[in-house]
Amino acid sequence: MRKVKIGIIGCGNISSIYMQNLTRTFANTEVYACADLNPEKMEAAASEYGIPNQWTAEQIITSDEIEIVVNLTTPKDHFELCRQALEAGKHVYVEKPLSLSSEQGRELVRLAKEKGVLLGGAPDTFLGAGLQTCRKLIDDGFIGEPVAATAFMVNHGHESWHPNPSFYYKKGGGPMYDMGPYYLTALVSLLGPAQTVAGMTKKSFEQRTITSEPRFGEVIDVEVPTHIAGTVRFHGGAVATLITSFDVWSSTLPCIEIYGTQGTLIVPDPNTFGGPIRLRTAHGDTFSEIPLLHQYEENSRGIGIADMADCILHGGTPRAGGELTSHVLEIMDAFHSSADSGQYVTLQTSCEQPRSLPTGLVKGQVR
Ligand SMILES: NC(=O)c1ccc[n+]([C@@H]2O[C@H](COP(=O)([O-])OP(=O)(O)OC[C@H]3O[C@@H](n4cnc5c(N)ncnc54)[C@H](O)[C@@H]3O)[C@@H](O)[C@H]2O)c1
Repeated sequence: MRKVKIGIIGCGNISSIYMQNLTRTFANTEVYACADLNPEKMEAAASEYGIPNQWTAEQIITSDEIEIVVNLTTPKDHFELCRQALEAGKHVYVEKPLSLSSEQGRELVRLAKEKGVLLGGAPDTFLGAGLQTCRKLIDDGFIGEPVAATAFMVNHGHESWHPNPSFYYKKGGGPMYDMGPYYLTALVSLLGPAQTVAGMTKKSFEQRTITSEPRFGEVIDVEVPTHIAGTVRFHGGAVATLITSFDVWSSTLPCIEIYGTQGTLIVPDPNTFGGPIRLRTAHGDTFSEIPLLHQYEENSRGIGIADMADCILHGGTPRAGGELTSHVLEIMDAFHSSADSGQYVTLQTSCEQPRSLPTGLVKGQVR
């Protein structure tokens, strides 16, 4: 099988799992070049994963060799680097969120269409064994028609572990833009596109103190809301309640539950690829744990890129595609704009419910 050549911009915290999977797990990808403003990080990544070229972002974007540009920089740099890569005729896959605003997201979707290239973005956890098994259970009617869902992502932020956590408290950060993509992409994958959003937001702490190294003790100003609550109505009729918060020290809330006319499905953490999954039907007395039916239970970040590579090789549109990530970005924006205006927000974007993955895949393959 021909391998699609990938250039990765950003060799930071999240990059190693991508490099590992794109060089060692997936059969149709090859990391041909990497770039980072910090030469030490770039050299370390290139040497660990045998990446043959250490280039600048510009060299990756303009190279005739590179087919997919993977943008793993922090949110403020997502739009401009993606725009340049699309303009240069490259397929682009970007970490979440797609950009800092839904206007920018829509612009990238438009530009990709104009240039006839593929756009996609994280998260791709919804292609893992856990969420794909949940999708199959819903599609096969195990809980009847979905009527509602709850989704909760609450913790006390990332300044206790991330080496450089400031971006989580600037525009493009906050719990919704950081973690909402996992929860909302999972919900759109399970329930289809959303229609209307109502939100409320709060900033409970004006400053945060970093307790991780190397910036231990440094105080960061919080520029964005850090507690976001609201509801989403889906085109299919289900209503989801969602809370994302960096203001909660501890809780016992579940990650995602889907309530159907015939039962309840307890969905695994959408920031993981595996289980557990629990199901209780209308007439059952207890929840039963459901075995995972699909491949990719372990951390398979990059499967969305392998799926994009598959589309380059065989045709089709990526499952973790631009319209999905742009729709999720608009939902996240809508929580904030609804809170600011005190009004429900009717969404402008939509997307196809992403195609499910088949069962029985061989590891390393996406078809
Ligand atoms: N850290 C995590 O656990 C995690 C998990 C999932 C997703 N993400 C997402 O991944 C993205 C990156 O997060 P991170 O934690 O790896 O951040 P990071 O700060 O550790 O890494 C980003 C890297 O991008 C480099 N960079 C920025 N602009 C560049 C340019 N023009 N050219 C070359 N290099 C450039 C920086 O030097 C830095 O090394 C974010 O969007 C984040 O939301 C992070």
